[in-house]
Formats: sequence, C-alpha cells, structure tokens
Amino acid sequence: MFDIVAGVLILTGLALVATVWRLHRLYPEVRWDWSRIDLSELSFPDGFLWGAATAAHQVEGGNTNNNWSRWELSTDESGKPRIHNGQRSGSACEHYTRYPKDIERLRDELGLGSYRFSLEWSRIEPEEGHFDLDAIQHYGDVIDELIASGVTPMVTLHHFTHPLWFEDKGSFEKEENLDYFVRFSERMFSEYGDRVKLWCTHNEPGPFATMGWGMGVFPPGVRSPKRLGLVLTNLMRSHCRVYAAIKAMPGGDKAQVGLVKNIFQFDPWRRWNPTHWALTRSLEETYNSSILRLFRGEPFTIRVPGLMNVREDIPGAELDFIGLNYYSHLLLSPLMPTSPPFKVLARPGDVVTDFPYCSYPEGFYRALMSVGELDKPIYVTENGIPDARDDRRAEFIQKYMYAMSRAISDGCDVRGYYYWSLLDNFEWAEGYDMRFGLFAVDFETQKRTLRDGAKAYVDIVRGHRNG
Ligand code: BGC
Repeated sequence: MFDIVAGVLILTGLALVATVWRLHRLYPEVRWDWSRIDLSELSFPDGFLWGAATAAHQVEGGNTNNNWSRWELSTDESGKPRIHNGQRSGSACEHYTRYPKDIERLRDELGLGSYRFSLEWSRIEPEEGHFDLDAIQHYGDVIDELIASGVTPMVTLHHFTHPLWFEDKGSFEKEENLDYFVRFSERMFSEYGDRVKLWCTHNEPGPFATMGWGMGVFPPGVRSPKRLGLVLTNLMRSHCRVYAAIKAMPGGDKAQVGLVKNIFQFDPWRRWNPTHWALTRSLEETYNSSILRLFRGEPFTIRVPGLMNVREDIPGAELDFIGLNYYSHLLLSPLMPTSPPFKVLARPGDVVTDFPYCSYPEGFYRALMSVGELDKPIYVTENGIPDARDDRRAEFIQKYMYAMSRAISDGCDVRGYYYWSLLDNFEWAEGYDMRFGLFAVDFETQKRTLRDGAKAYVDIVRGHRNG
C-alpha cells in the first residue's frame, strides 16, 4: 500500500516538474543580445509614413465639456483629487490655436510626413444633436493646413473623451448609446472624408474600459468586472458599426478605417510559478487575445473565472488596418498591487521609464508579429517613452526602430509609424509629470524645444524617408 502511495506521489511530483519546465521553456518572453545587434541595420518599405501623434484633450487646452473636464474637478471617496497632484488639463499645449506652428515644426524640424490627431466630440457636438459649425470648421482648417504642408492626416474619432451629455447617458456602457457615436462618426466622415483617408474608430478600447470601469482611475471611476465586460463589448460593437457606416457612405470605399489596439503584453514574473502563469493568461486573454480573435472571425469572448464571462457574436468585425499602440510589457506576480501606486518588476539590465514599466523593444517585435497574424496592414499609431530627464529616449528610439525593422523583414506589413507624442502633454490621471514629447513644452510660456533624444528619431526618418 505504502509503495503505491509513494509511487503516485513521485509520479505526480515528476509530472508537475515536467509541466513547470515546459511552461518555463515555452514562454515567449523574447530577449535579444543587444551587444551583437547593429542598430543601424534598418530598412523600411517605400512610401512608409513617418509621423507623430497627439489626442485632442491632451494638447488642445480649453476643453470644459467632456467626461475628463468633469473628472479633473472631482475627488475620490477619500477626498483626494483624481489627477496626480490635483493638476488639470487647463490650457494644455494651446494646440487648438497654436496648431499651424506645431504642424510646421512636425514637418520642418522633425521631417515627418504624417500627423495623427483626434477630433474632440464635445466641441463638435456640445449638446445632443447640436453640431457646432465653428468647431467643424476648425478641424477642417487643421486638415487643410496639414495637406497644404504635405503632411498626411490620420484622424481618431474617439480618444478617451466624449461630451458630458453622452457621459450622462451612460456612454459606452449602454448599447443604445452607440447610435450617437455612429451619427457623430458619419457626420465627421461627411465633413472630412474627401481629404482624410486614414481613420481610427476607437483608441485603445482595453485601457479605456479598464481604467474607467475596472480600476476606476479614469472617468466614470467604476470598479466592476461585469460592467467592464459590457463596455468592452460595446466598444467592439461600436467599431464594427462605425466601420460599416463609413463604408456605406460616398467615398467610404476609398477610406482606410482601423481600430487602435494597445498591446501591453503580460509576462509571468517567474515562469516556473503556475500562479504567475494563471494571472498572465487571464490578463492576456482579456486585453489582447479577445480583441484580436474577434477580427479573425470568432465571437467576442472573455472568460476570467469568477469575474468575467463574455461571449457575443458581433457581426461585421472588419478593419482595413490595425493600429498598434505599443509601449512595453508588464511582468506579473499575483502579489502585485491592483491599484496605483504600482511597483515595477524588472529583469536585470532593464531600463525603467518614468512610468512603472521598462523599455522592452523585443516586446514591440512580438506585438507586431502577433497583430501581423490578422493579415491586415499595420500602422504603429503610438510608441514612445515617458522620460523627463531625456536620458533614455535616444536609445529607446534606436532599439524600437530596430525591432520594427526586424518585424518588417520577418514579414510584417507595417505601413507607418507615429511617435507618441509630438509634444509633452496632459497624461490623463498622471497630469503633466510624464514627459513623452519629441518637443519639451514649457507650460508657463508655451515654448517648445526639440529634445536631444528626439534627434535619434529625426536622424532615422531622414535616412529612411523614402524607404
Ligand atoms: C494613450 C495616450 C497616452 C499614452 C501614454 C496611450 O495609452 O492612447 O493617450 O498618453 O498611452 O501613456
């Protein structure tokens, strides 16, 4: 009897060790030996678009009628301001009025040929059903200025902000509200579709929903996995409906309409630890695989035992390109805090950015290869580093460019790249402390200064402008 028990125990132990060993070996947390890499070995296709990106609320200034402007004035349950150090977006970079000079900088000082920006819905439709002609004219002027400067516009319809009236109706938590966003998108396409060919529907459905309805650090400040699942599903429905609506409009067949997907990989801190694995898998599933699977023709499914169980057939899951926002990965252990302040887990030699994550160019390569499986053109709609000291930016740019070039050589159809961001700006819950800009902005004087680190980007663009 004793022998049988001992035998079973030994076999179970061996099976466990074998499984853990297999997990450890199979896990694709790619690491390259940078000492053997020549960072100047870069190649990009002809016609590659080199650009920089911003989002309306983060740079325009004077936005007082959207979900964020209200959020910035509010406090949490303990009376603490929602934004780091009680900051507010305020006049931001005054880009709403200073855009002509900023476009000139983008073209002349950076040598870029494309600009990604977003339309501020709360300016354009400040009250339900009332479209403001001055605001419509304004974005038309921005587009005309870009085109006259030889800069290709890429427009985002929803980049985290929407009008208060839409927020008060429950925004993307209610499926019936999607009609409003579709109507807005149709109007925008009818205004600008003759001049703008690259359209992004939603910016980063995953982070937008998670921060707002999962972690409660973005408006509306909810912490409910169930409601988060609902919002994510509606955002996917919203993308599909806007895509179909634009395609059905005159000129829609010539427009390229995509979704901006953020990939922040989740990797186990200890690959031999099954609990680290389990956590990693459920987050990967929620944020990355579920959305990508939808565009491979599968139902939208998220299963996180005990927390979320979504399975929806969403018709019309189409896109003409996938926009990839890539910053880094997160090493996970179940003991990490689930709300800020987060502590960064880093491997030896990792360069930590000003946000609690490290620079991880290999992850950019991984992300490109994984969205590449959709077999659609890819635009890197955001990539950049928060680096107030500007002592890591140049290396970040060189290594991430190398990773992108390597993914292209390995078969990824990448058509363009937008650095985040053109200017230092209002970094949502972090306020103004995170400095992502190619141009540093002095928020007292509004002076813009090209950062030294940004010159690495300028050099690469200069050397590879025609592919
Ligand atoms: C967002 C930007 C943000 C950037 C840097 C992205 O998730 O689209 O609005 O500023 O990351 O954190």
